[in-house]
Amino acid sequence: MKNYTPDNRGPILEIKDLKVYFDTDEGLIKAVDGIDLKIMKGTTLGLVGESGCGKSITCLSILRLIPSPPGIIAGGEIIYKGRNLLKLSERDMEDIRGNEISMIFQEPMTSLNPVFTIGDQIKEAIILHQKKGYSEAQGLTVQILDKVGIPSPEIRIKNYPHQMSGGMKQRIMIAMAISCTPEILIADEPTTALDVTIQAQILDLIQSLQDELGMSILIVTHNLGVVANIATHVAIMYASKIVEYGSVEEIFENPKHPYTLGLFTSIPIIGEKKENLYVIPGNVPNPLAFPNGCKFWPRCLFATEICKVHEPPIEEIKEDHKVACHFKLWINKYVWKEKAV
Ligand SMILES: Nc1ncnc2c1ncn2[C@@H]1O[C@H](COP(=O)(O)OP(=O)(O)OP(=O)(O)O)[C@@H](O)[C@H]1O
Ligand code: SF4
Ligand SMILES: [Mg+2]
Repeated sequence: MKNYTPDNRGPILEIKDLKVYFDTDEGLIKAVDGIDLKIMKGTTLGLVGESGCGKSITCLSILRLIPSPPGIIAGGEIIYKGRNLLKLSERDMEDIRGNEISMIFQEPMTSLNPVFTIGDQIKEAIILHQKKGYSEAQGLTVQILDKVGIPSPEIRIKNYPHQMSGGMKQRIMIAMAISCTPEILIADEPTTALDVTIQAQILDLIQSLQDELGMSILIVTHNLGVVANIATHVAIMYASKIVEYGSVEEIFENPKHPYTLGLFTSIPIIGEKKENLYVIPGNVPNPLAFPNGCKFWPRCLFATEICKVHEPPIEEIKEDHKVACHFKLWINKYVWKEKAV
């Protein structure tokens, strides 16, 4: 686990009450519904949650890449260096995208253009953002490919995406994302499509680049193991809301929200019998028909009548730990164990 030393450097990015909706033929989908998040300078925030809970939409909102229509940014602010990104002109956003804030997308295989060499794709970003000439950009591209661990970069620079393995393509995506030494790197499930050994290598690479470049990172993952390895803070998202947030040490030691507790006890631990694994009952709710009250109540072991009516706000229970649950002061891993096993 990465040790986090609180510092006075403050947040580099602050999301305040962000709401992103999709106006579809079937109805209004509230993909992100009033979330607050902070990324502290030089640290890594892990964003965790089941499929469809709004992780990618949160990331895409930061870069203002929500397709519109049907997407609508219905409210909130995203403050970066004192400016609200949601209010910037498209021209100003172009300067920030890929330059100051860059993203490794969830689908690396579809994010690379098959008809251009990987070298041309990295060079394009360098020429555009850093205003470098062609030959200087060529030299920088070779250096970046080397940095992300591509062997023989002078030769590989001429390869097309189809000539590379999945792990290498992911390294190319990282090379593109860091080519302009961004202040913030957003990595949306950067290792999901890769096998376990390559996953570990890619995470090591991201971490060593962070140490070298001092970037702040927002990493989306389904995997709490990834969070434990790489993140300093973690936000647990459920059905368009953040339900728990805190430092990784605190959340791993003292998880409070029943959903977080369910996630932790559904991880296989070496030596423990599979039968002892807890499976969160039920399914992710349909975004067109979220339940009233706390959206987790139909799946929650602790739900009472109040949960079905009133949605709990997210509140601080101590410094660096926030929870959205009516019974946050009472529920903990010991209470959980008695109930869930
Ligand atoms: N273009 C779109 N049109 C309509 N609804 C959308 C669109 N993009 C996303 N959504 C909806 O927004 C919600 C959040 O989607 P999002 O992609 O953020 O989920 P996610 O947490 O990243 O899931 P996953 O883990 O599967 O990647 C989902 O209900 C999804 O169906
Ligand atoms: S508010 Fe109620 S339903 Fe929601 S997580 Fe807490 S106990 Fe469960
Ligand atoms: Mg996603």
